[in-house]
Amino acid sequence: MIIVPGPSSMKLGKEVAALLGLRSVAVEYKNFPDGESYQRLTESVGGEDVALVHTTYPNQDKRLVELLIIIDGLKSLGAAKVRVVVPYMAYARQDTRFREGEVVSINSLFKMIQSAGADEFYTVDLHKEASLSAFGIKARNLYATEVIADYLKRSGLEEPYILSPDKGAIMIAKRIGERIGAEYGNFEKTRDRITGAITVKGEKVNARGRNVAIVDDLISTGGTIANAAKILKEGGAKRVIAICSHPLLVAGAYERMMGAGVDEVLGTDTVESSIGKISVAPLIAKGLQ
Ligand code: R5P
Repeated sequence: MIIVPGPSSMKLGKEVAALLGLRSVAVEYKNFPDGESYQRLTESVGGEDVALVHTTYPNQDKRLVELLIIIDGLKSLGAAKVRVVVPYMAYARQDTRFREGEVVSINSLFKMIQSAGADEFYTVDLHKEASLSAFGIKARNLYATEVIADYLKRSGLEEPYILSPDKGAIMIAKRIGERIGAEYGNFEKTRDRITGAITVKGEKVNARGRNVAIVDDLISTGGTIANAAKILKEGGAKRVIAICSHPLLVAGAYERMMGAGVDEVLGTDTVESSIGKISVAPLIAKGLQ
């Protein structure tokens, strides 16, 4: 197997190759003046079993087009097999027809990735694992909870309570809690499907005097975490840290969370960010073996 670090995951792809002791083939990459992407494989991939590592943020649409083009390109250059590793899979939250007439974006994208020539698909903490059923090829979700839990343990945060801000991420809290032997639970969150406004309720969790790690699959505007942190701090929580797999952090998100009482924000490196201290390279390397 050889690793091809795509333009959006050059660092992570190279780390995966180093961990597996595999050759990595660089992609020459540039943007044309009008914004279109140019990609060129700098070595032959003919007959090779290739693992392409390419995340889809930022910018989702551009990174997705690059992903589709390079999968097809690898196949047309003679790769025998293309394993597609997308550390952060964009559009995964639109996984259901919530309102009549809506498109289920993640299903459409998975169909496109398969038609482009993917033989296998891997991602990390997909918003809903069941979405992978749209694929007709081997498709795996890798759990960043492993590396997050190990990081939390090393961090020395005393007797943390692991909190999911909503029911959706309870499995993340459960996996981390069980791995480090910590108590876990969830708040309740509702989102207005038209305005996007969220309401978080946390009556069932008593965090007085506790250190709390709020865990979620992704942080976008930081609104979900900020709402949860406010409730925790008002309820007497000691230290509140926020940890996510995918730190998308749109403008103002970090400040919003800190302003609500969060003491520290951490993420993995599925997308590049200033808070991506936890690497998923070992997780991807293990998943590809
Ligand atoms: C939603 O279900 C996700 O798991 C996240 O909780 C959400 O997308 C985070 O978004 P934001 O940071 O904008 O609140």
